[in-house]
Amino acid sequence: MNNNIHDENLVNLITGHLCDKPEIEKMRKMAVERNIPVIQRESADIIRLLIRIAHIESILEIGTAIGYSASLFYGEMENGRITTIEKRPDSAIEAAENFKRLGYRNIRILEGDAIDVISGIDEKFDMIFIDAGKSHYREYFDKAFPLLNNGGIIVSDNILMNGLTLNYDMNVRKNRTMVRAMRGYIKFLCSHPSLKTTLMPVGDGLAVSHYQKETRNE
Ligand SMILES: C[S@@+](CC[C@H](N)C(=O)[O-])C[C@H]1O[C@@H](n2cnc3c(N)ncnc32)[C@H](O)[C@@H]1O
Repeated sequence: MNNNIHDENLVNLITGHLCDKPEIEKMRKMAVERNIPVIQRESADIIRLLIRIAHIESILEIGTAIGYSASLFYGEMENGRITTIEKRPDSAIEAAENFKRLGYRNIRILEGDAIDVISGIDEKFDMIFIDAGKSHYREYFDKAFPLLNNGGIIVSDNILMNGLTLNYDMNVRKNRTMVRAMRGYIKFLCSHPSLKTTLMPVGDGLAVSHYQKETRNE
């Protein structure tokens, strides 16, 4: 299944230059075959670049699935650690097996609904990656934001929702809640006084937000 809203030749040009570890690429192909939604390669590649540029060494991920994105990000850090949250027990187990097979020890999986689980986390992160239920991004943000280090980055994936965010007719009831929530979330991010956010039309759409604590100059 390919839900990419972009020109296929463009996507092929970008992804044609990527060379991921064969085990991780196998994980992605298997996820696609089983209709498990995972991050698009070109989006993951931008996040990996951000990890390098910003010297990210700790990531909180909301939405593990089978651990594909976490594996890609982990491989980009030198001594990094990831905490990743997944509400489906079967996916959490599969992700744990994948991390073990890759020898990725510093990835901790927390099983449960992120809205509940985040409250129990007692550490700070350089990056927060939001990639779970699309109607709940604002709730994930509110819970996770206090755990972000000053100077850190929040990446929200799927903000275009296969084009729904752009083209959706609000008079159609189906999906209305999801579209309203995502449009509201984008507006919120872009007007947040402590964030500099850019919306990137890559993959299914990334919002990248840099956090700089407000300082008073009076
Ligand atoms: C898009 S997939 C994550 C893909 C993964 N980040 C990757 O790219 O490899 C979204 C995952 O979020 C999980 N999820 C949805 N709502 C959640 C919640 N409230 N708390 C934790 N996990 C949730 C789903 O079960 C699903 O596995």
